[in-house]
Amino acid sequence: MFDVKTFVDDQVADIKKRVNGKAIIACSGGVDSVVSAVIASKAIGDELLAIYVDTGLMRKGETEEVRIMLKGLNVNFKMVDASNDFFNGLKGVTDPEMKRKVIGERFIRCFEREAKEFGARYLVQGTIAPDLIESGDGGKGIVKSHHNVGGLPKEMGLELVEPLRELYKEDVRQVARFLDIKVSERQPFPGPGLGVRCLGEVTPESIGVVREACYIVETEIKKASEEGKMKIPWQYFAALLPIRSVGVHNGERIYGRTVVIRAVLSNDGMTAEYARIPLDVLDTISKRITDTMGDKVNRVVYDITDKPPATIEWE
Ligand code: XMP
Repeated sequence: MFDVKTFVDDQVADIKKRVNGKAIIACSGGVDSVVSAVIASKAIGDELLAIYVDTGLMRKGETEEVRIMLKGLNVNFKMVDASNDFFNGLKGVTDPEMKRKVIGERFIRCFEREAKEFGARYLVQGTIAPDLIESGDGGKGIVKSHHNVGGLPKEMGLELVEPLRELYKEDVRQVARFLDIKVSERQPFPGPGLGVRCLGEVTPESIGVVREACYIVETEIKKASEEGKMKIPWQYFAALLPIRSVGVHNGERIYGRTVVIRAVLSNDGMTAEYARIPLDVLDTISKRITDTMGDKVNRVVYDITDKPPATIEWE
């Protein structure tokens, strides 16, 4: 049985012992990074600086929500707007692994700058066991270079602290509940953000489309589960496909984009089953997406693939 209190006490004690100086943590607002930040903050207080990078690839309203949350958790934090830098780096990049590398490198450069300014010697990370396994640390070969693992160059010169590296997602959620962190039930969101939900080239315009589509999928599925129409899936979002197809908007032909609805049931993200979304909910999502963005999106499809053979995200 996983003993949450002992886990937290041990990690706090370990960080107190190991960390001798200032530390930074990349805090995306997701459960892994927030839990790591709170644990590290319990150990070293204001010697820790949590940095939230606005990559331009975040979900609707996310940056403001994270700001409010970090304030409420009494963690020393800083928000950095680096969106131009990320979009510039992603110009012309369509290969999924290359995208992850570009995003990972920009993150690291950003942290290097911030770490230097803050005088940090340590980097705290919210890496969990599946990140390491799927990035090739478990001897099984790389599925995807999870940006918080694969993108981290050894020469960054900061000592790594990873309090959650032995845990799976459900354990992390238990720790979050124990620490009274509201984010504990939030669905997972990949480190490279909407960048890996936008197949093909990532531009501010395409991110705008996938951001709105994700928002619609999230709100409609939450609503449907509150109304008892379905169980809340483990993860539910939209991705934008790099194909165009013919459609009609306001009586005129358009050669528009395709959005895919993805929702899965899972325990740890290592395997997943696609969620059976009721047809009327799918219908509402589809109509809302094309009503809101009919000049751009003229087709909505539903992904009915498990993991394996697919992965949860499309890239
Ligand atoms: P996949 O798509 O590999 O995703 O089946 C498994 C889980 O991991 C999330 N994911 C990531 N999480 N950094 C992360 O912290 C990443 O680079 C990353 N890529 C995927 C994904 O959303 C799912 O929950």
